[in-house]
Amino acid sequence: MSTIAKQNYRGLYHFSPKEKWMNDPNGMVYFEGEYHLFFQHHPDGMTWGPMHWGHAVSKDLVTWEELPIALAPDELGMIFSGSAVVDWNNTTGFFGDKPGLVAIFTHHLEMPEGKPAIQRQSLAYSKDNGRSWTKYEGNPVLEDGRFVDFRDPKVFWNEETSKWVMIIACGQTVCLYHSPDLINWTFASEFGEGIGSHDGVWECPDLFPLAIDGDKSNLKWVMLVSIGADPAFVEGSRTQYFTGEFDGEVFTPDDDSRSTRWIDYGRDNYAGVSWSDVPAKDGRRLFIGWMSNWMYANQTPTEIFRGAMTIARELYLESRGGRIVLVQKPVKELEAARIPVLSLQNISVRELNASLAELHLESYEIKSVFSRDKSVGFKVRVGADKQTVIGINAKTEELYVDRMISGQHDFHEHFLGHHSAKLEALGESNDLHIFVDCSSVEVFSNGGQAVITDLIFPERESTGLAVLADHEDDLVISVDVYKLNPSSDK
Ligand code: FRU
Repeated sequence: MSTIAKQNYRGLYHFSPKEKWMNDPNGMVYFEGEYHLFFQHHPDGMTWGPMHWGHAVSKDLVTWEELPIALAPDELGMIFSGSAVVDWNNTTGFFGDKPGLVAIFTHHLEMPEGKPAIQRQSLAYSKDNGRSWTKYEGNPVLEDGRFVDFRDPKVFWNEETSKWVMIIACGQTVCLYHSPDLINWTFASEFGEGIGSHDGVWECPDLFPLAIDGDKSNLKWVMLVSIGADPAFVEGSRTQYFTGEFDGEVFTPDDDSRSTRWIDYGRDNYAGVSWSDVPAKDGRRLFIGWMSNWMYANQTPTEIFRGAMTIARELYLESRGGRIVLVQKPVKELEAARIPVLSLQNISVRELNASLAELHLESYEIKSVFSRDKSVGFKVRVGADKQTVIGINAKTEELYVDRMISGQHDFHEHFLGHHSAKLEALGESNDLHIFVDCSSVEVFSNGGQAVITDLIFPERESTGLAVLADHEDDLVISVDVYKLNPSSDK
């Protein structure tokens, strides 16, 4: 056995299950000081199988405590993706004086003799902060015979209409329903025909308002829609977004939503949705995605566990060059895990490389600023003839991640690749904000407008770091490097 096969690739500051298979994040809800993260889980296998909801909680969105499985399959089927909310006013009648959590998920029932599976929506509730769950006796609460693929309900309370709203994937569209009590649902509208990408089945939608440029009197609605992997497209599964208006029943897209826009231009950020019930005084729209791709998710070379989440990110809307764009930034809580390693300003590439040559790092963050007109970048996880290149091409105005020689790749023919994102309406300088962990890179550039999330499987000894530029004398405006290890005693 080669040494590489013995490595475990578990990230130091990314959530991954203690063991076995994980895919989508589910039921993300904030309640009484805890961020809950449920997840699609096959507790008996290293590949996708009968789906359960695994469960983890965090107080800081960085360190996670895994709890026992929350929901297991039953006579109505497997427990597919869905959401969770706090029922503050006991609209369901499940609770007494104290509010509790309600999970809204898809029951997926396999049928015999090759008949298509049945997907229906069900509820479960918890009166003890998600530690134990009771499935609602009237399940399922929503079925719609029009759709074979009918799954991944994301529910939120709409203040304007005083109703719950559900957005749910229906084949290659999404449908909106509303309800007074989470139990009785009324169809409102369907969206998606002739707009956006239809390169795969639509999955895991989300819908939420965001302030444009931080102005709370100027809101826009954002819809996220993940699309499944179709063998015809080498990109595999990915997530698109639309901006528009929502009146409680119908979503009307903005004109510039007509061309497809992706939330991430890497390969490994899928099925991500946002947290429910983040307190208004915090006001953040927090997001996490599954850091894999259906194209090869079942084959990635980890041991013990398979699947990790992205770092938690905050979503914003910004007007850039006449368009409204979705921007992502790492959550500020990650700063508490920083262990400063190096901080340099106005230094030449030659000098910077001399300093970086001393470092040996596996899990870390780089914040850097360069002048606008220069192509620059970093080689990370360098060594043992491997490296991952992250950079900005000033000529094409693109951010890229190149994982052609990043490490293990032979588990899938399309894993190798060079992925790029257009930098739109650039500012005066170029920025690269990079998170490297044992099996991933996440790159935010142009203030979070261009994002690339990619898995990598480097060798243990690939710990080198170098800067990349056209000329040794080029000046770097600033570089900060931090080790990231939230569990260490600094
Ligand atoms: C998305 C998805 C969902 C489904 C779940 C099953 O990755 O296919 O549509 O609910 O995974 O595990």
